[in-house]
Order: sequence, then structure tokens, then C-alpha cells
Amino acid sequence: MEKRKKVLTGLQPTGVITLGNYIGAIKQMVQYQDEYESYIFVADMHAITVPQDNKALHENIKSLIALYLACGIKPEKNTIFIQSENEYHANLSWLLECNTYFGELSRMHQFKEKSKKSENFTAGLFTYPALMAADILLYDIDYVPVGIDQKQHVELTRDLAQRFNNKYGETFVVPEPLITVTGTKIMDLVNPDKKMSKSAENPKGVIKLLEDSESIRKKIMSATTDSETLVKYNPETKPGISNLINIYSALTDKKIPEIEEKFASSNYGTFKREVADVVIEEIEKIQEKYREYIESSKLDDILDEGREKTRKIAKAKWEEVRSKMGIGR
Ligand code: AMP
Ligand code: TRP
Repeated sequence: MEKRKKVLTGLQPTGVITLGNYIGAIKQMVQYQDEYESYIFVADMHAITVPQDNKALHENIKSLIALYLACGIKPEKNTIFIQSENEYHANLSWLLECNTYFGELSRMHQFKEKSKKSENFTAGLFTYPALMAADILLYDIDYVPVGIDQKQHVELTRDLAQRFNNKYGETFVVPEPLITVTGTKIMDLVNPDKKMSKSAENPKGVIKLLEDSESIRKKIMSATTDSETLVKYNPETKPGISNLINIYSALTDKKIPEIEEKFASSNYGTFKREVADVVIEEIEKIQEKYREYIESSKLDDILDEGREKTRKIAKAKWEEVRSKMGIGR
């Protein structure tokens, strides 16, 4: 049998997860787990490249994993771990930094953006892409699913892998970015011409996965629509209604024409109530599983197993790299 390709996903434990993330990204990951050998980890060392509240950060780490598991990521199909619990990520990162040019790191778009925001940005923010390269190169990863904003970092990872292989002999698999085909882009409920985003100014436009049902219902019922009364899909002229149709479609697997027909003689109030029912039903299921994970020792068992498995693999790769570079005994 042909060996399955490997994919690795890194998640920053900052901020909340929205219905947009769930429909646009997590549902896709749930599909990858059947196709690929899949690694998922919490990039907590990347999170600290910018200032964090230590308590909130700490709570977010396990909560994030519990939420992904609740959304259908299966522990038996994925290797799940926390970056900082595997010291070989930082170890390899240093060795890679010594093979990375200052100029290369200076050209990273994300660094240029984020370093503008504060005068006291850290050295870690600058070397961030070398750590990300280590995350990937430790495990002979074939594909890295990322949003377009992270593509340049995966390209740098490819350059570093090729450079190292040329200089020291075949060592790293050269990974490819798997640019997340925007499934359905979910829009803000208040400003449906903007993407639903955790950093939105008005919280009324954003549904969070750990939000209570009453609040979700209120937000959907007061979502911005238009002055017509027809449930019809047209993102240009009816962005609000089209967004609700997209949400309904993603969660029920019903096609758009089918939805238009089903609600042909309904007013917006009736349609919104049904959208709210569907969203609440899905989110309540997720929350119930989330609580199961967060309240049991299962989560720790999964993370212990992931740590042990990945440390073994990573140690071997790091030792190979160290020895090829000529350091140590
Ligand atoms: P972010 O929350 O921006 O870091 O994005 C994490 C992942 O969720 C990326 O793959 C995004 O493409 C996806 N995502 C974020 N917001 C949305 C949205 N409103 N609709 C669809 N996908 C989204
Ligand atoms: N930098 C990624 C982000 O901000 C997270 C990340 C860290 C990552 N290491 C990774 C993603 C390795 C993919 C592969 O979203």
C-alpha cells in the first residue's frame, strides 16, 4: 500500500473560534483526517512572539484542543500535541536560524505588518518563521494547509529545506502549502460585506462557538438584511440574506436552490428563526462534547500521547541535523 501523505496544522491559541472558522476551516480539517496522516498542534510558542495575558493564554491552550475535538477532529486519526511541550521545536528552530538570512526574515510580510504596531517588538517576532519551519520540517510533512497570509512562511520553509539538503545531503522533505480553498466565506451578521472575524468591532456580527444559545438567536434574528421580502441568493444585492443562506446550506448540506424553494413563501422572520434553530442545534452539540473533553482526563491522555510520539520523531530529526552541521560530540 502506498504510504499516506502527511499534513500538519498549527493553531495559535489566541482569541475565540467563530462560526466562520468552523464552516470555513475546521470542517475541512475534519475531511483531511481521512485522507492524510494528520498532525495538529497548538503553536503556543508562536503566540508569545507578541504580548499575551498569561492566564488567558494558558486557558486557551487546552480549550482550543477540546474545541477541535468537539468539532469532529478524532484523536485516533490525528497526532495532537502542544508545541512548547516538545523541546525539539525550539532546538531545531535555532539550527535553522543559523541557516536563514537576516534579509529573508526582513522580507516577511507578517513581520513587516506586526512590527509596525509597536516600537518594542521582540526578536521572537522576527525569527517566528524559522520556528514555523522547524514545526514542519521535524515531521517530513508533505502538505501544510494554511490561509493565504501564511503562504510566504511555507515558501521560506521550502527554501530552508532545499538549502539544507543541498549543503548537507538529503535531510528534509520539502513541503507544499495547501492553500485553503475558501469553502464558504461567512460574513459578519451586522456588516455582511465584511468577513465574520474574531477581531470585528461590533460583537453582534460574530457568532462564537462557545456562545450561549439565547445570544446566538438574538444575533441571527437581528442580522442585517434588505428591504425586500424574498429569500433569494444574490451576494451582490442581498449580502445579508445570502450569508444566512450560506450558513444554512453549510450546516444542513442543502443546496442553495433547494433552500430558496423551501423558503419561497416565508418572510425573513421565519427564515431567520430556522437558520437560528440549525445553528443552535449544531453549536449545542459541539458545546456538549467540548464540556465532556474539558471536564475529563481524556484530553490530558491525548496530549500526553501526542507529546511522547512527536518527541521521539523530532529528537531523531534534530540529532540528524545537529550531527550534519558538525556540532555536539
Ligand atoms: P483566522 O481566524 O483569520 O486566523 O482564520 C483561521 C481559518 O479560518 C482560516 O483558514 C480562514 O480562512 C478561516 N476563516 C476565518 N474566518 C472565516 C470566515 N468568516 N468564513 C470562512 N472561513 C473563515
Ligand atoms: N503561523 C501559523 C498561524 O499564525 C501557525 C503555525 C505555527 C503553523 N506553526 C505552523 C501553521 C506550522 C502551519 C504549520 O496561523
